[in-house]
Amino acid sequence: MSSPGKATARAYANIALAKYWGKADVEYNLPAVPSISMTLAPLTTTTTVRFDAGFTEDTLELDGQPARPGEVKRAQALLDRVRSEAQVTQFAAVSSVNDFPTAAGLASSASGFCALAAAARAAAGLGWDRGLISSLSRWSSASAGRSVYGGFVELPAGTPGDPWLSAKSLAGPEHWDLRIVVAVTAEGRKDVGSTDGMTHTRDTSPYYQAWVNAAPALCDQVREGIEKRDLRQVGEAMEHSTLAMHACAMAAAPAVIYFQPATLAVLHALRAFRRDSGVQVYATMDAGPHVKALCHADDVTRVEQMLAGVDGVRRTLVATPGPGVELIDG
Ligand code: PMV
Repeated sequence: MSSPGKATARAYANIALAKYWGKADVEYNLPAVPSISMTLAPLTTTTTVRFDAGFTEDTLELDGQPARPGEVKRAQALLDRVRSEAQVTQFAAVSSVNDFPTAAGLASSASGFCALAAAARAAAGLGWDRGLISSLSRWSSASAGRSVYGGFVELPAGTPGDPWLSAKSLAGPEHWDLRIVVAVTAEGRKDVGSTDGMTHTRDTSPYYQAWVNAAPALCDQVREGIEKRDLRQVGEAMEHSTLAMHACAMAAAPAVIYFQPATLAVLHALRAFRRDSGVQVYATMDAGPHVKALCHADDVTRVEQMLAGVDGVRRTLVATPGPGVELIDG
């Protein structure tokens, strides 16, 4: 048996340029479609895991506060997989800190589970292996599997029944100097989480199969556009992927609607600005009301000003291509 200890890891958030929506296997959390993301700096989660023979249960602190029972359960499922692989029996104390507000409109689950997987494996004495960290974190939150690598990252669709699926790196952060400008359109937590939204969409939306059939070609276009550094190609496929995903969810019964009035206002303003100014800027959204605009670094000030001027936009936040997960102690 290895001797478990303590480790700290830092992971960056990511935004999907080609969206994942739908599971090929719920138990193993395997995506039904391939997805491509950009890892985002400076938005990080830093997580410390400590295994100790003196602990009588697993504990989880998020930003200094005890986590809710559902969150503890999800972290425990990951810790159990690590304990079983490393043959460790100790309970763990986990403490996790986001350096961006959870209400910033960027999913903290991607950076959160990625940092947790990296720190837990290291604390349990398992070797540093990005493929295994990706597969482990993907099991908790598929988008987390992509934060293992920096820059531009692909997570293929899964094969039902096969629990090992990891993301792969397409290009490092230095490949392309893009920006993501987040337009925050609402405060607070979303009312339908991504897993519930996906399951409900699969079960009730007549467009679900059409989405699953269409997604791989959109992913191919995004991958090709990244290789060529062609923002128009990436942007057009990304907007198509985003709106097809949301249309599919809106066709569920009852509908899953993440849009708020300000969401639609931003989408219209962005399209009008693109048409009138000639600036290449394209929209994407996750399972929430915020709009994230992708543009060249040179255009970021104009894009940010345009978004900040739309009625209902509470604030904006700028991100750049960021690095992969790193072990900072342990
Ligand atoms: O991995 P999850 O459960 O956080 O789901 C992510 C779903 C989207 O953010 C909507 C799309 C994506 O590919 O990140």
